[in-house]
Formats: sequence, C-alpha cells, structure tokens
Amino acid sequence: MQLLDGKKLSKKIELEITKEVKELKDTCGCTPGLAVVLVGQDPASAAYVNMKKKACDRVGFYSITHDMPETISQEAIEKTIEMMNDNPNVDGILIQLPLPSQIDTTKILELVAPEKDVDGFHPYNVGRLTTGLDGFVPCTPLGVMKLLKEYDIDVKGKNCVVVGASNIVGKPMAALLLNADATVEICHIFTDDLKKHTLAADIVLVGVGVINLIKEDMLKDDVIIIDIGINRAENGKLVGDVDFANVSQKCSYITPVPGGVGPMTIAMLLKNTLKAAKINAKERQL
Ligand code: GUN
Repeated sequence: MQLLDGKKLSKKIELEITKEVKELKDTCGCTPGLAVVLVGQDPASAAYVNMKKKACDRVGFYSITHDMPETISQEAIEKTIEMMNDNPNVDGILIQLPLPSQIDTTKILELVAPEKDVDGFHPYNVGRLTTGLDGFVPCTPLGVMKLLKEYDIDVKGKNCVVVGASNIVGKPMAALLLNADATVEICHIFTDDLKKHTLAADIVLVGVGVINLIKEDMLKDDVIIIDIGINRAENGKLVGDVDFANVSQKCSYITPVPGGVGPMTIAMLLKNTLKAAKINAKERQL
C-alpha cells in the first residue's frame, strides 16, 4: 500500500505558485486577490476560511474576508458580492458554504461573476465542466485529479465509484473522471446495497461525512481509495469516511485523513485564484 501524500504535493504546488506570483508582480505589478464571504459562527467554516487566508499569505496573494453575522439579509450579501465583482483588486470570490437558512444560496452563487468564481460553483462553470470546456473547476475534485496524476494513476477505462452526490464534491468529481475517460458510477444516500457497487470498483472516491462507511469487506484487492470525508471522531481526532486501519491492508493506494485531499483543496483554490488573476492581468493589458 502506498499513501497518496496530499500534504507533500500541496507544498510543491504552493512553491510553484509563489514563484509565479513574483513573476506576475514583476511583469505587471499585479497581486492576485481573493475575497471571502463568511457568514455566521460555524467553527468548521471559520477554521476552513482561516486556513485559506493563511495559504494566501504564504504564496503572496492579497486576501480579504467579509465576516457577516448569522442574521444577515440576502440583500446585504448580494451588495457585497456586487462590490467584489466590480473591484479590480479582487480576482477570486469565495462564498463559504453552508449559508444560513434565510439565505437563497443558489441566487448568491449565481451572482458571483463567472470569471471570478474560483470555487467553480456558478452554473456557467458547472456547464463548462460537464461539457468538457475550460473554466473554473471545484477545488476538492480538482485536487483529487492532480493527486492521482502525481502518482501516475490513469483513470482511463477504470471503474470509478463516487460515493456522495453533492454539488461541491460528488457531481464535479464524477464529471472530471468522465472527462478523463473513466467509467463512472455515483452512489448516494438512496443507493440500494452500496457494497455491491464498491466491490466492482477499481477506484472508490468517498465524501459523505460518515465515519467508517467504507470497510474492507466492501472492496476488492488492490483497490485505490480516495477519502474526501472529514469527520471529528469521539477522541477528537480528524478522520475520513474510510476505515483506514483495515482498508489500508487491502488497497494499493489510499489518501490519509488528514494530509490527503484536504491540503489539495486549498492548493487548488490558490491555483484557481492565480488563473483568474492571470486572465484579468491579460485583459487589463489589452
Ligand atoms: N464548504 C465546504 N466545502 C467548501 C468549499 O470547497 N468551498 C466553499 N466555498 N464552501 C465549502
């Protein structure tokens, strides 16, 4: 069994980005900028946003966080997004999800300018992904593809079972795998007999937030496991959706939690923001 080391790869990517940021500053005086909207007090969301901000600092990006109270109105968030859309110093906009129940999340995500949509959640970018066109791709599935590539794992023709059908992870993950010529199945909460599906898989990619959902008896020998879950165990430790101790005896490759997909998500947010900044810099020069 070999670990797919996302921590190591994300550091390598950050170094490359840092170099490119310096070049961009030297050639056009531009500093890539990321604006984040954080609503409410959810500790997990606050921790994620803090990690994203720290990563921006490490590579030399400008970043700003709009901290908003849980009781904020739809109009106030929309006004902030319009301001960020119009601000030339902001290359990327990220709305940390979930938003409170009084907020229409779809409307908010549709208001983000598609060329600043570094999370890839705008229907324009979702459409481009599903049609195989260039655009902004959601960071977690994009990070998984980069990690597979780093370890020379080609998904072409492989049976890939994605467990979880969210807009953030499962659906874009399936689209990326399909675009890379994999055979893709999506399983979800209503799937009958999950084991029947996972047993046939060459690669299992799971992100549903259920501790120990994937056990060794659900898998064939030498399977490749991508664990996208992040859960807090009773002992306070971070764990994924896979029974790591037992599954790691059976698989050929596996991502650890923490240190697998998580750091790759942040590295891809940086990559997407740099991509947006480069496009903006080019447009300003025209
Ligand atoms: N909430 C959980 N994951 C994500 C993510 O990747 N991006 C945003 N914006 N919110 C999230």
